[in-house]
Amino acid sequence: MALDRNTPNDLNAFWMPFTANRQFKKAPRLLASAKDMHYFTTDGRQVLDGTAGLWCCNAGHCRPKITEAIQKQVAELDYAPPFQMGHPVAFELANRLVDIAPEGIDHAFFTNSGSESVETALKIALAYHRARGEGTRTRLIGREKGYHGVNFGGISVGGLVNNRRMFGTLLAGVDHLPHTHLPENAFTRGQPEHGANLADELERIVALHGAETIAAVIVEPMSGSAGVILPPKGYLQRLRDITKKHGILLIFDEVITGFGRLGSAFASQHYGVTPDMMTTAKGLTNGVIPMGAVLVSGEIYDTFMTGPEHMIELFHGYTYSGNPVASAAGIATLETYREEALFERAAEMAPYWEDALHSLKGARHVIDVRNTGLVGAIELEPLPGEPTKRAFNAFLQAYEKGILIRTTGDIIAMSPPLIIEKEHIDQLIGTIGEVLATLD
Ligand SMILES: Cc1ncc(COP(=O)(O)O)c(C=O)c1O
Repeated sequence: MALDRNTPNDLNAFWMPFTANRQFKKAPRLLASAKDMHYFTTDGRQVLDGTAGLWCCNAGHCRPKITEAIQKQVAELDYAPPFQMGHPVAFELANRLVDIAPEGIDHAFFTNSGSESVETALKIALAYHRARGEGTRTRLIGREKGYHGVNFGGISVGGLVNNRRMFGTLLAGVDHLPHTHLPENAFTRGQPEHGANLADELERIVALHGAETIAAVIVEPMSGSAGVILPPKGYLQRLRDITKKHGILLIFDEVITGFGRLGSAFASQHYGVTPDMMTTAKGLTNGVIPMGAVLVSGEIYDTFMTGPEHMIELFHGYTYSGNPVASAAGIATLETYREEALFERAAEMAPYWEDALHSLKGARHVIDVRNTGLVGAIELEPLPGEPTKRAFNAFLQAYEKGILIRTTGDIIAMSPPLIIEKEHIDQLIGTIGEVLATLD
């Protein structure tokens, strides 16, 4: 059957994720192709990608090296079972990942998404304590406004009410740290001054339950999905100190912050704080093939490598863990990042990006601007009685004017591919300025 890529004859069957389905299907926004910094729509328009797809196409779109690696791999070894079998490509990718990870993080467990990376990390945390004879450590600590994907572990430790309220009782034994979205930090360039003390809330939770009941704390080093909430200065180090003091594992969810977004390979290096585990996905394959990885410390890995050698050490894994085609995409992606020095490029562009974003201070409806690396957020005053609508209208108008942004609540969030040029930044911010000037 020939597939006309431009004109689906019916939009009904596909129940779209995290989408206002009825609204979308009345006025669809369909993308037909992409190249570097741009999407091209089915109605023939060029749209500047201000979001790297969904925080994932860090090297830009349809990059030849990645495309060719996938084509070659799929023709050579399309699939290999990952349980009790292996293939060289996944091992190679694991080596290359730990090469760019912080010191001491030296093993990779492959998954297929950020959500699966989170579930995997939480399970490893529980099993790690159990393997060490500390099976009472079952409690998991997340943070308000955290986003850790959509599976049960992730929404339990996550802190976005709409992602939680419809889905029953979630995991038992989960507590939350307070979020760090503080009004006194409005319009801060980079890391805010206020709020490091909020990490001390972990001491309160420890005092409430006893350290011996707590397995792990998971946070995004920089909260992306909640609308770009940066860690206050000193906050992550305090979390590190308190977790270490009490024998609690610290997990950084680097699904968004990994692979150069903040100007270093990982946020961990950017902020100079090393967790025990890091969850990744998205930029790992430039978003091209679904894949995630949990990066873990040698100490955690070694804890499992005991007992009879013929025994499986961790009863966990996915049919597509370390899939050959995804692994080939991952290797080609990491090579592209390195050859084009894209992490360094993000750091070099960050000051220009920061200035451009903060030029919107004083624009209509703007109540905060936040930035780090090549991430930016513009927070709008909500329309009275209609939260989210003003920002969503901005998104629709911006798309009509040829730029793709994202909104979450009343916050415009941007995370362009790391290959962005200054004129693209000017176009993005200029267009948002125009939209805000006329927006209700
Ligand atoms: C920090 C974080 N964790 C986990 C996820 C979930 O990733 P996925 O949508 O690939 O399951 C996301 C997605 O945006 C994320 O931002």
